[in-house]
Formats: sequence, C-alpha cells, structure tokens
Amino acid sequence: MAQTFDVVVIGAGPGGYIAAVRAAQLGFKTACIEGWKNAKGELALGGTCLNVGCIPSKALLASSEEYEKVSHHLEPHGITVSGAKVDVGRMQARKEAIVTKMVKGVEYLFKKNKIAWLQGFGSFVGSGDTYKIAVGGSSGSETIDAKYVIVATGSKARHLPGIAVDNETVCDNEGALAFGAAPKRLGVIGAGVIGLELGSVWRRLGSEVTILEALPNFLGACDEAIAKEAWKQFTKTQGLDIRLGVKIGKVTAAKKTGVAIEYTDSAGAAQKLDCDKLIVSVGRVPNTDGLGAGAVGLKVDARGFIEVDDHCRTNLPNVFAVGDVVRGPMLAHKAEDEGVLAAELIAGQKPHLDYNCIPWIIYTSPEIAWVGKSEQQAKAEGIAVKTGQFPFSINGRALGINEPVGFVKIVADAATDRVLGMHIIHAHASDIIQEGVTTMEFAGASEDIARITHGHPTLSEVVREAALNVDKRALNM
Ligand code: FAD
Ligand code: NAI
Repeated sequence: MAQTFDVVVIGAGPGGYIAAVRAAQLGFKTACIEGWKNAKGELALGGTCLNVGCIPSKALLASSEEYEKVSHHLEPHGITVSGAKVDVGRMQARKEAIVTKMVKGVEYLFKKNKIAWLQGFGSFVGSGDTYKIAVGGSSGSETIDAKYVIVATGSKARHLPGIAVDNETVCDNEGALAFGAAPKRLGVIGAGVIGLELGSVWRRLGSEVTILEALPNFLGACDEAIAKEAWKQFTKTQGLDIRLGVKIGKVTAAKKTGVAIEYTDSAGAAQKLDCDKLIVSVGRVPNTDGLGAGAVGLKVDARGFIEVDDHCRTNLPNVFAVGDVVRGPMLAHKAEDEGVLAAELIAGQKPHLDYNCIPWIIYTSPEIAWVGKSEQQAKAEGIAVKTGQFPFSINGRALGINEPVGFVKIVADAATDRVLGMHIIHAHASDIIQEGVTTMEFAGASEDIARITHGHPTLSEVVREAALNVDKRALNM
C-alpha cells in the first residue's frame, strides 16, 4: 500500500525545506523528496544554497577577506602584521564544517516537524485523485501518493558547448568552491555574481584573476552609479582584470598544461588567455529533467522553467512550484518566501509576495546591494524620479571602522516621494539594505526615512542623509 501524504515537496533546497517546514507547522502530513549527495557521497539536505552555493561561498569570502585585511588593511589602525600566511586546507575544512552544521540543522528541523525525508530523486508518474510520485533511491523505487505537491527542484550551473567541466581544471561553482590551493592564473568566463564573488576569493588568496565577459557593460542589472564605482574598485584598486564585450572561441584544457581560451576582444581582435584553472559562471538552468512533467501534463517553458502565476500555482490543480525552477531572481530568500507562500496557500491562507521588494546582494568587497528600481530603469519606464546620494567617506562610523569607500543612493518618485529603489556599495551593504526593503514594503517615502531617528554613530546615518539629499538637504555635506 503506497504511503499517502497531504503535501509532498520535491527538493530540499531553501525553497523546498522551508516549504516543508511551513506545511508541517500548518498541520499537514508532509514529506520531502531529496537525493542530493555531497562530494563524500553522503545524502544531504539543503540543496545548492547550503552545499555548493550561498553558505560555502560566504565562508570562503569571509576567510579570504580576513587574510586581505590582516595583510593589507590594518596599517591605518597602527597595527603591523608580518608573515601572515594562508592555509587553504584549513580554510576549506572550516567551510566544510559550516556546511555540515547547516545541513544537519535542516535534518533536525525535519525531525522536529515530523517531516518524512524520502531519500532519492522524485518524478511524477501519474495522477488521479492524488499525484503519484516515484522516489528512486539507492534501495530501489517506491511510489507515493500526494494530495498537494510543491516542486522545488532548483537549478544547476549552465555549461557552454565545447567547454567540458571536470570540476578540477575547468570548474563550475562546485569545483570553484573546492580548490585545494589558489591557482597561479585563474580564468573566469562571466562577470556576473559568481564570477565576481569567487574571482574575489581567489584573487585575495593570491591568484591572478582574468574575467572574460560577453556583454559590453559591467553589472548591467545595477544602477549605473554603483556599477561605475564597483568597476573602479574591482579593477583599479583590487586588480581584477575584467575584459568586457568578448566572444569566447575554442577552449582547450588539460590537467598538466592548464587551459587555453581563444576569444575575440571588444575590438574584434583575436586573443588568447592561458590559465591554470578556469571557472565557467555564465548563469544557471532550472532542474526539470527527469521530473516526469510530461507524465502529468505539467507545463514547462522552452528554457525548462515550470510555468507559474504570481502565486506559484502551476497549470495543474494542487501543484505549486517555487524557487530557482520558476521565473524571477535565482536567490535563496526568494525561494524561501515562495515556499512559505505555497504552503500557506494550500492551507487556505492569502499570502502575498512583493517581487519588487526582493533585495539583491553581491558579497564582493565592497558589497553591492540593491532593492527596487535603478534610476535608469525608472526613467526607461517613464517615471519621473528624484535621487539622493551620500558617501560613507564623511560618516564617522565608516571612518572609525576604516571602511570609507562607497555610497547610498535613493531613487524616489518625483511626484509622490515614494521610495522606488535603494542602491548601496559599501563593505556592510548587505545589512544596511534592509532599511530600503522595509521602507519599500511599507510604501514609505524618502521623507519617512529622513524623519526617522537613526542611531549615532552608525552606518545607517548614511541612508538617512541620502534620503535627506533626495530634497538636497543633507545636513552633514
Ligand atoms: P536548490 O537550492 O537548487 O535546491 C534544489 C534541490 O532539489 C537540490 O537539493 C536538488 O538535489 C533537489 N532536486 C532536484 N531535482 C530533484 C528531483 N527530481 N527529486 C528530488 N530532489 C530534486 N542566493 C542568495 O540569495 N544569496 C547568496 O549569497 C547566494 N550565493 C550563491 C552562491 C553560489 C556559488 C551559487 C551557485 C548560488 C548562490 N545563490 C545565492 C543562489 C541560491 O543558491 C539559489 O537561489 C537557491 O539555492 C535556490 O533554492 P531552491 O530551493 O530553489 O533550489
Ligand atoms: P549571472 O547571471 O549572475 O552572470 C553570468 C554572466 O555571464 C553574465 O554577466 C553574462 O553576460 C555572462 N555570460 C553569459 N554567457 C557568456 C559567454 N558565453 N561568454 C562570456 N560571458 C557570458 O550568473 P552566475 O554568476 O553564474 O550566477 C548564477 C546565479 O546564481 C546568479 O544570477 C544569482 O541568481 C545566483 N547567485 C547569487 C549570489 C548572491 O545572491 N550573492 C551569489 C552567486 C550566485
């Protein structure tokens, strides 16, 4: 007799495991199907985010930043450190320990909430009163019945034709997070989020990093003022060699000799880049292969994304899809919030997610964070805007912690003063951006931020001054 569940979640990344926890909290008999195996061959919950994404990358970013700080940035404090050394092995062991702790944390949440972890990969095999899902684990396949299904199968790295990824010499995110030593010459294809974050890690640890980007503009999704400052910091100050407008040609790779990348530069001239290792970070594709979408008539678009409406409903009754496998930004917090939304809809609640208020954060140094529209986007949409900007270089707290680089920019509607976007480049942008998110969620105006008391001395005072500057009345400038 097949097991029957109220809610079956397929995939245990941040979209899936959070959906399962919320469904269980709401009283549903819940199962989550997940067959991810880590590099040691162990089954692991947590998906891309915990195993080969957000968590390990932020651990390495932090370790490499500490090394850079100790090596180059303590002198203004009157502290001299000599002989700082890096042990990449220990750095990686620390990263692994953090990943294991987080993965075990999800196992604990499953036990606490009585969620059945069905170990293996899930595929739809039929439908009637319930959905029939086959779970293929190492001990064979069982078929279960689900009244409701939440698909949260996530994404995987996109690879380029003719460039074989072995995750030793030519790597996607998985191999690039696991180098045993900093390669002398590191090539990266794609100056997007992963290229910049992981390029930064290995540059700080000693690699000469060259990034080849197809587009002629740098960080096209950011406000232009932020992209311009980031370009200056990453290339001129830090020495990342970023080449824009290139067309990748033949790539040859061998473990002993490294990688040779032939490409055409922005002027159309033939070029070649030799490196010891190559990271290919050119975006991600949804995981819908093998899901059995065809067996139940689940609509998947031409690029492999499951089609959903604004509330993550698919074309099938009682089937929802969340996270990287559906439209929208591929971000862990977006996946989590969609997971909660799907579970609450199943419970008959009326949740809502404002996609315009989802923050983006790039964990480079300085960090880049934004929410809402850039000035250029708003103008392109025909919205009249006013903007306010304020630098960290004249903020007492930023000077005290020796992080004076960067600024906050606020984009407000010229007619109503409603905040349409906030854009930050600063070492602590990831924490500061939340004030913009909260303001936008409450449909706040720049005047609201300007009137709110901000503690002193704090980095958040820069947000307030930027808000004051929307009406050109900053007090400390
Ligand atoms: P995933 O995390 O991809 O999880 C999907 C899960 O489904 C996987 O475990 C997979 O094994 C499982 N699965 C797939 N098919 C099946 C099946 N048929 N049956 C059973 N299980 C299945 N986002 C941020 O917000 N902040 C960051 O700092 C950040 N850093 C990142 C760094 C890197 C290097 C990468 C690669 C990504 C990063 N992301 C970050 C993006 C983030 O990891 C994803 O947006 C997030 O993991 C998506 O969650 P998800 O649950 O939709 O999918
Ligand atoms: P991305 O979409 O951020 O960047 C890919 C880059 O590669 C783009 O600039 C694109 O123009 C370029 N590109 C594409 N094809 C190319 C080609 N043939 N030659 C040269 N350049 C090419 O994708 P990335 O960096 O792989 O990251 C995937 C996603 O993972 C991100 O978009 C984001 O959603 C998520 N992520 C989020 C992080 C965060 O929130 N801090 C960190 C890392 C990843």
